[in-house]
Amino acid sequence: MGTILGINSKFISIRWKLLSTYLLLLVIALLIINIFVYERIKSNYITEKEISYITQGNIISNRVRLSVDEENKMFNQLVLSQMMEEVSRLVDGRILIVDRENTVMYDSFHDLKNSPINLYEVNRAMKGEQISHQYDLPKFGKVLYIGVPVSYYDDYSDTILGVVFLSVSLEDTYQRINNIKNLLFFISLITLLLITVISLLLSDMISEPIKELTEVMQKTAHGAMDQKVSMEGNDEIGQLSKAYNFMSTKLSHIEKQRQDFVANVSRELKTPLSSMKLLSESLLTQPDTPVEVYQEFLKDIDSEIDRLNGIIESLLAMVDMNEEKLKLDYQLASVNYLVEKVANSIRPLAHKKNIKIFINQWEKIQIYLDKGKIYQALMNIIHNAVKYTDEGGKVVISILKEGKYVVIRIDDNGIGIPTDSLPYIFERFYRVDSARSRKTGGSGLGLSISHQIISLHQGTVDVESTVNVGTTFYIRLPMELNP
Ligand SMILES: Nc1ncnc2c1ncn2[C@@H]1O[C@H](COP(=O)(O)OP(=O)(O)OP(=O)(O)O)[C@@H](O)[C@H]1O
Ligand SMILES: [Mg+2]
Repeated sequence: MGTILGINSKFISIRWKLLSTYLLLLVIALLIINIFVYERIKSNYITEKEISYITQGNIISNRVRLSVDEENKMFNQLVLSQMMEEVSRLVDGRILIVDRENTVMYDSFHDLKNSPINLYEVNRAMKGEQISHQYDLPKFGKVLYIGVPVSYYDDYSDTILGVVFLSVSLEDTYQRINNIKNLLFFISLITLLLITVISLLLSDMISEPIKELTEVMQKTAHGAMDQKVSMEGNDEIGQLSKAYNFMSTKLSHIEKQRQDFVANVSRELKTPLSSMKLLSESLLTQPDTPVEVYQEFLKDIDSEIDRLNGIIESLLAMVDMNEEKLKLDYQLASVNYLVEKVANSIRPLAHKKNIKIFINQWEKIQIYLDKGKIYQALMNIIHNAVKYTDEGGKVVISILKEGKYVVIRIDDNGIGIPTDSLPYIFERFYRVDSARSRKTGGSGLGLSISHQIISLHQGTVDVESTVNVGTTFYIRLPMELNP
């Protein structure tokens, strides 16, 4: 694998991008879940503790109220102590009972008895509130302080007699919460590990075909046109592979066509050149050649030059067509006029062979087309009709409407085209009978050019033919063209 800007490209490949994206998303999701679950569990546990201790505080408050002297509304020390000895065993924390003078009346740990006390929770409870608060003390760790008022009600008043104060350790609770936190962390770690392995496999599945495709493309770029990708499936990558294979088939087809074309052109150009060379050489090697023979040979050379010219013109026309593909010069033109013009320019040639050209037309038809190009296409097809018809024959051109098309039909009673040749006559350089065509001077490019021109006009050319009976060409051009 190569390096890009000095960084190993392995780390910026699609595989690693996918993998890091998966993992990043997963870590974020796990982090959020962990934090949320941890906070939720913590608050549930602590709230549960608070509620349970406030309830206990209330139970104690109700009990100790009974130890209050009806007369002076003060705690009876003796009764209180006896009562609390029993109660304190039920609570796993420290219990203080404080009277309304803020003096500790009872301490389950015994060392604060009769001392004054000033605690936030006691002061608030003294005002009638039930209160709980969490502290993190250096000596005891996490603790919960609870204050619950001890009230006395009769029909006339509601008096606060003192406060029940509870202090309980939350260390156990936090220990339990931490255990859950660790378990959560452990599960997350395992999940992360598992998903890393799965993602590695998955990203491989995605990146492997891309790698294969790249390799095949590189081979194609180095000249091996017929490379194929062997990927199955109907996903995007499968479709990409199919598109690639299709393109590569096309490419090798085009490459084959190009090679054939170059070979054909060379051959076509070489033939007249060889004849010319032969003619001129024989003139040069025979010093006393009579003038008539000179003239005869020069005439032959001249016709070979015409032939060469013709081929080059056809080739140039073909090149033009490829370049001008998108810029046909559309103009409103009369089809009848165009056909007549072509026929008129061919008539002298037809006359030489005693061939008559007739035009059947029932109405004037005007459509948008590139006059120059359509002239060229008609010229070749009508010229063929004369060229491949024996002396004394006839060519009939008909102009008619057929649905949304103008049809120009060219009938001749000439030599015809064998059925097995019909599929090929529109191919470049194809000639039914090379020997005879040589005599008549064709290069086999005419129909290919005509076909291209008509296709560019969104039209079609079809042919029907019977050997020794005649040939019919149908040119169909759309009446309403969308240039
Ligand atoms: N009307 C026709 N009758 C009989 N054969 C035809 C007719 N038109 C075309 N062909 C055959 O189809 C072949 C291809 O025609 P095309 O016009 O492409 O080439 P060409 O006439 O030989 O040469 P070019 O037109 O380039 O001078 C011809 O060589 C000929 O064999
Ligand atoms: Mg021709």
